Amino acid sequence: MLEKRLRELGQEHIARLLSSEGTTVSRGLITGDLEGVDLDLVDSLIRGKGLYDPPRGPVEPAEVIPSSFASSEEAKDAILHGEELLRGGKVAALVVAGGQGSRLGIEAPKGVVKVTPVRGKTLFHLFAEKILALARHYRCTIPWFIMTSRENDGSTREYFHRNGFFDLGEENVSFFVQGMLPSVTEEGRFIVAENGGLFMNPDGHGGTFKALRRSGALGRMKDLGIEEIFYYQVDNPLVKVCDPLFIGIHSMNKAQMSSKVVRKSSFEEKVGVIVRQGGRTCLLEYSDMKDEIRYARDASGGILYWAGNAAIHMIRRDFAEKITDQDTMLPYHRARKRITARDLDGRIMEINGIKFETFLFDALPLADRSMTIEVPREEEFAPVKNLTGVDSLESSRRLQSGLHGAWLRRLGVDTTEGVSVEISPLFALGFEELRLKADQLPRSVERDTYLG
Ligand code: UTP
Repeated sequence: MLEKRLRELGQEHIARLLSSEGTTVSRGLITGDLEGVDLDLVDSLIRGKGLYDPPRGPVEPAEVIPSSFASSEEAKDAILHGEELLRGGKVAALVVAGGQGSRLGIEAPKGVVKVTPVRGKTLFHLFAEKILALARHYRCTIPWFIMTSRENDGSTREYFHRNGFFDLGEENVSFFVQGMLPSVTEEGRFIVAENGGLFMNPDGHGGTFKALRRSGALGRMKDLGIEEIFYYQVDNPLVKVCDPLFIGIHSMNKAQMSSKVVRKSSFEEKVGVIVRQGGRTCLLEYSDMKDEIRYARDASGGILYWAGNAAIHMIRRDFAEKITDQDTMLPYHRARKRITARDLDGRIMEINGIKFETFLFDALPLADRSMTIEVPREEEFAPVKNLTGVDSLESSRRLQSGLHGAWLRRLGVDTTEGVSVEISPLFALGFEELRLKADQLPRSVERDTYLG
């Protein structure tokens, strides 16, 4: 029974509230919140077991394929290989969109944020167009898997229905819901949420593996003949979804999980870096980086650990299966957060809480083989994390327009400074495709312009 179990776990305060006549908590909500939650796991996390322990031992820079590789002869083979996998219908796109977007401070799913600089298309709309453009180009189907959370699953599905699945075909878009875990106080006590349930948080993007397995999405991928998964995050509009070069490099090298990296912009940029440690590729988080690593210089005085994680990965389907078959646990990270909660008398207040999450990149060291490739930041990385300033909606729009403006200038189009430019993926997915349409371009761009 619920109260007994809660008492066993040292959560008497919730058990007491449930047994009392009061209305602070709702039995129905709490039962629903804890359904499917591994309470023994939560208990051990509270006791400090299963938590992330930064690896020890010497760290070395990761071996990275430089971005200049993209224009080499060898790259052509990799691109052909990637294209073949796409044409054969062996690649799925997977976007994680279960986060809370708390820094952005919006209630709606992040994917419905209007992100493009001229038309104001949403992130989901933009990605749908990228997938549609690829599917038309390679005459294939690219199944799209979208990870949501309990909080935003309904509104995400409803958004796709309302928009006719952006012409992708409902059967080609699958949603799967990630797990949740109760947040706790500094003392490890469950927290009552405003609605009388428990305060829960999504279990992090590392929850992708478990959620893929539990929801049946991984099985569906197998049935569809998917061999490779292109993973990305919902908040980067510049991501080259299912980039054939990346797919090709990863697959030709028989890697299980691979990563794209961008050059860190400064020693202090708050981004994790891909490194080698203990003979394995892994990600060293910014917060775990000692100064001697953060400020280490290479022979020419540059940043030695420059390989910033762009959070774009290739994952072999059978690697995801292996991890989930063995129920390998990714380590949990603790993060502090401000939480609006109810106290034991039902009063609403702001408190400091702790959430437990796993991170997808912690699966990297589990891969026997992993490739890391550098991509130019201005071409592939413009995340929307904050309301203003660095990595904000504003900076992301500027970067998108900057890239498209630069493509036009390379093709001889005069662009007036300060105007915004947006090129629809359905017009050209990249510079090479735009070059083929050079005769359809205007001579000059003097006001905000959309090419679609
Ligand atoms: P972030 O770590 O940037 O978190 O997620 P966030 O939720 O978007 O924003 P903040 O930190 O609350 O401000 C990076 C990516 O991982 C997804 C997010 O949706 C985003 O695409 N994510 C994160 C999940 O899918 N689930 C999670 O539990 C956490």
